[in-house]
Amino acid sequence: MPTTIFSPIQLGAISLPSRIVMAPMTRNRTPGQTPNALNAAYYAQRASAGLIVTEGTTPDASGRGYIDIPGLYNQAQVKGWRAVADGVHAKGGHIFVQLMHTGRISHPDFLDGNQPVAPSAVAAPGEVYTHAGMKPYAQPRVLEADEIPDLIETYGCSAKLAMEAGLDGVEIHGANGYLPNQFLAPNANRRTDEWGGSLEKRARFLLEATDSAISAIGADRVGVRLSPGGVFNDIQDPDAESTYAFVATELAKRNLAYLHIFNTKPAFDVPALIRKHYKGTLILNGGYDRARADADVASGLADLIAFGVPFLANPDLPERLRRNAPLNEPDTASFYGGDAHGYTDYPTLAA
Ligand SMILES: Cc1cc2nc3c(=O)[nH]c(=O)nc-3n(C[C@H](O)[C@H](O)[C@H](O)COP(=O)(O)O)c2cc1C
Repeated sequence: MPTTIFSPIQLGAISLPSRIVMAPMTRNRTPGQTPNALNAAYYAQRASAGLIVTEGTTPDASGRGYIDIPGLYNQAQVKGWRAVADGVHAKGGHIFVQLMHTGRISHPDFLDGNQPVAPSAVAAPGEVYTHAGMKPYAQPRVLEADEIPDLIETYGCSAKLAMEAGLDGVEIHGANGYLPNQFLAPNANRRTDEWGGSLEKRARFLLEATDSAISAIGADRVGVRLSPGGVFNDIQDPDAESTYAFVATELAKRNLAYLHIFNTKPAFDVPALIRKHYKGTLILNGGYDRARADADVASGLADLIAFGVPFLANPDLPERLRRNAPLNEPDTASFYGGDAHGYTDYPTLAA
């Protein structure tokens, strides 16, 4: 029997009944940054995933880049996340929280009037949606070298809080142009101190944030997400292949629960590059359907496959994939923000 997405797998500290992962998706339905009953209902509906990775969640108040996204840095949030974890576990599911510090992809409106922080004073082009409409990304404040270790420590603190909340682990968001990715990218990181310049120094923030979480809760409960060659949020890296070969090699030494790759289809073959340098458990994501997912798992290119939009629109996605049943159409207008509509009201097959 070939391995399929329905074959069980051991993922670090936990055993999963399938290789189907719900990809992290920001939904902007957490006013006050504390997960609420509606959020818990949304995740519980999707508990038939082998693993859920939550929406990007800030490990520190300085990392909040969008309206109504959750945090995990105080006791009220621990309580909110506990209800989410309990709801998913009651239905036999597993859930990692994605730790996302947005760095320069933010605005003082989300930061009590403070400037966003970043490796260098390079504003991202473009605009962010605030309570007062679209506003340009702000000029970031350059992080002092001696404040970076404290910021890195917030990943470990948040990981500890994740355990307190009963979540199964954490995923360090190193993808899509947020803070760790800003440190990695030469166009956003113009530093000449020990946090920038050479590839080793640009990779330090990501690797040390990962190590902070590992020291706090153990490598078998820590995953890392990367988007090699991705350009989202104005990331430019003329030698992305070397960057990600190095990062994958370094991460491979750490015995992580998994490495999660969002393949945004850049000019090079991302899965081949990563597989060459990373022999541990690998999740691939980006535009998958059942046939391609099974093919990549059967060939050993991936160990698990993450589905984003298909899971957003289909709470019972695994059952639909099993039966080759049709999928609900996603309603893009309700992706970011709003209420239960487009969130917890997508029908299941049984409905
Ligand atoms: C509404 C929405 C929100 C997203 N938010 C996040 C996020 O918080 N963190 C992240 O790493 N990726 C985020 N993504 C990217 C998805 O995790 C995924 O990589 C992308 O949707 C491609 O997978 P798919 O083709 O299966 O949808 C988001 C995508 C969507 C559609």
